[in-house]
Amino acid sequence: MIIVIDGPAGSGKSSTAREIADRLNIQFLDSGALYRALTFLWIRNNKPDKATFFEILPETDLKTEYRNQTFFVNANGDDITSDIRSHNVANYVSKVASWPEARAFVNQYMRNLVQKNAYVADGRDLGTAVFPDANLKFYMDASIEERARRRFAEMKNSDPNVTLEEVKDNLRSRDQADQNRKADPLKKANDAIVIDTTGKTFEEQVQEIILIIKEKLKL
Ligand code: DC
Repeated sequence: MIIVIDGPAGSGKSSTAREIADRLNIQFLDSGALYRALTFLWIRNNKPDKATFFEILPETDLKTEYRNQTFFVNANGDDITSDIRSHNVANYVSKVASWPEARAFVNQYMRNLVQKNAYVADGRDLGTAVFPDANLKFYMDASIEERARRRFAEMKNSDPNVTLEEVKDNLRSRDQADQNRKADPLKKANDAIVIDTTGKTFEEQVQEIILIIKEKLKL
């Protein structure tokens, strides 16, 4: 079984998906983390040309596991869970995620996983390109002002010099890049249920989604 949550950066889909996984006792799948993992491996291999990278990538034993609200990523026995969150990876991930070869790799990886367990997954193109037959599809959104305020609050501790305007500009350009790339852009699936979280608390948005899941999937 697969429930997908797509939406723009800062819409709250990742934290919401984790909470839903815990409350429904299913697995959480973080598709962005897989793009980040590929990006990390590409950088660690000294940014080879695309052809070389996708030749050597199948030699990497990539493993993922969700526990304690964390999506762990392991490559050839190394825990790269925190490495994939680095600034350097963030700077290159849009580039790597725009390669059709990277999308094919991540999509295949996710489809294999989902055959074995029940999952809630978050991403940009899951309801459209990856799991068009998902059991249930959500599209989470919020105003740019609200998304920027949330990200700003998250980042204030790790990056005290960042301004709200900078966060908003970054979100705007990521929205642009995600929506306009050729390969599987961010897009609401026709049959996705829209959850606008503007003005809602975390608990309210989690409750709203869980109610719909229970009603539609009779869980
Ligand atoms: O969700 P995130 O910020 O960790 O995602 C990292 C990057 O991966 C983001 O720039 C968009 C990309 N991504 C994507 O292209 N398709 C997905 N299904 C998930 C993420």
